[in-house]
Amino acid sequence: MKRTVATAPIAGMKPGTSGLRKKVTEFAAGHYLPNFVQSVFDAVRPESGFAGQCLVVGGDGRFYNLEAIQVVIRMAAANGFARVLVGQGGILSTPAASCVIRQHAAFGGLILSASHNPGGPDGDFGIKFNGANGGPAAEKVTDAIHACTLKIAEFQTTDGPDVDLSRIGRQWVEAMEVEVIDPVADYLALMQRLFDFDALRRLFASGFTLAFDAMHAVTGPYAHAIFERELGAAPGSVRNGTPLPDFGGHHPDPNRVHAKDLYELLMSPQAPDLGAASDGDGDRNLIIGRGLFVAPSDSLAMLAANAHLAPAYRAGIVGIARSMPTSGAADRVAQALGVPCYETPTGWKFFGNLLDAGKVTLCGEESAGTGSDHVREKDGIWAVLLWLNILAVRRQSVRQVAHEHWARFGRNYYTRHDHEDLDSAIAQGLMRDLAAQLPSLPGTMLDGKVVAMADDFSYVDPIDGSVSSGQGLRIGFADGSRIVYRLSGTGTSGATLRVYIERFEPDASLHDQETQAALADLVGLADRLAGIRERTGRQTPSVIT
Ligand code: G1P
Ligand code: ZN
Repeated sequence: MKRTVATAPIAGMKPGTSGLRKKVTEFAAGHYLPNFVQSVFDAVRPESGFAGQCLVVGGDGRFYNLEAIQVVIRMAAANGFARVLVGQGGILSTPAASCVIRQHAAFGGLILSASHNPGGPDGDFGIKFNGANGGPAAEKVTDAIHACTLKIAEFQTTDGPDVDLSRIGRQWVEAMEVEVIDPVADYLALMQRLFDFDALRRLFASGFTLAFDAMHAVTGPYAHAIFERELGAAPGSVRNGTPLPDFGGHHPDPNRVHAKDLYELLMSPQAPDLGAASDGDGDRNLIIGRGLFVAPSDSLAMLAANAHLAPAYRAGIVGIARSMPTSGAADRVAQALGVPCYETPTGWKFFGNLLDAGKVTLCGEESAGTGSDHVREKDGIWAVLLWLNILAVRRQSVRQVAHEHWARFGRNYYTRHDHEDLDSAIAQGLMRDLAAQLPSLPGTMLDGKVVAMADDFSYVDPIDGSVSSGQGLRIGFADGSRIVYRLSGTGTSGATLRVYIERFEPDASLHDQETQAALADLVGLADRLAGIRERTGRQTPSVIT
């Protein structure tokens, strides 16, 4: 039976770039989740209602995923959807959800994830709405959702038993059909269209070795199916491949800190040919060659320079987009290919318009997100497959590909230093005072380097003209070096200051330096300019990537 439940607004429900993320305890309390879901439905409901429309639902398997999915399904039925597609066991990686939305011409989807944030009863939970293009809702939609959360007075739901999420096939909730689907099938079919699976099978048959760390998160089922079963990678190539509600107590963020075991394996004498990992919801990727960590900014540039070696991109790429803090390595490739390179604010949603308009083929962020026009999310498994396809065709190691790339384009040494859980007032004060200094910097010398530009990054979307300002403070030097400061929009406690540092090195004889050593002077300068240590009292960053 459909029923209407009276409720009242809850403060602080503003969905950010990646949806709404909070502690599980907050999500599971009272009407928190139903309020948000109803607000999404109210904000996006077409005039004709949801009759005939399909909603995709799935998540990354974290704690509270299954309960939340049942809530969403009941509310979708009560709000008049004709159909829900839900991943078996409640599982859908974020890129697979994007793929399913597009493949089945759905109205949109609700993705349950807090990405790389820790899970478990004390961890984080999250939810976001993706539209019919398969991508995260644009700001005007998330603003409309927020407006609904502020005035919500009731939500619609149904009574009745839970849907059996373990059983593939059709079930009914009132008049709504619920189809439990294999979470991997549509995604695998898409990957088979993009890449040369025969060449990849030959690569593994020739003895190529892979270590893929699914970090007990959502990519386990995808990685087992694709790398081991389809492509013949040795059993055991996929590590931590069973999704766990608390990710085994780990932080499912594929970087050198949280994927330390994988990193150390790749730096050891037992290293496989390729090491890779993905995050909680499967949209990020980490790529490590034998003895060589590939910075995500470099990975984007190297994939762009070699994409034509994979069937999907044989005709060449039409353009590249990178987030502002991502290094300029991709720009140099774009220039050589004669295609545009767009610089967008941080967050995948800014790539959506460019992809939909056919302006770019590849996109990437320094935070280990890379993707293409095949879906409207970044895609971890896709990035690994593109690397594998390139290695299969070039018959070279990651190290050889990287060194040839740097010899041709020059090397952008790159690092990001994060200062987490800072006092918000201190972090904001630091940014405000630094912003005030910026106008006086261009033309001056800092540590023997000429400042070429300094500003607070603002972006005008070339497709819809919308303006996003306050996107990060950047200081560019005449020699191609750059320092960028921004406050995280995804943290759930205190403020996180991210400092992005890059140095361009054209000389091939200097391409073998250790990254932190190569950037030490700039790191010191970045600290002095903003007074990081002095103001925060922190002597070292929380995370260096
Ligand atoms: C972080 C990353 C950003 C990414 C986002 C969602 O956001 O820096 O590149 O798009 O997570 O995965 P931030 O916390 O910096 O706002
Ligand atoms: Zn993610």
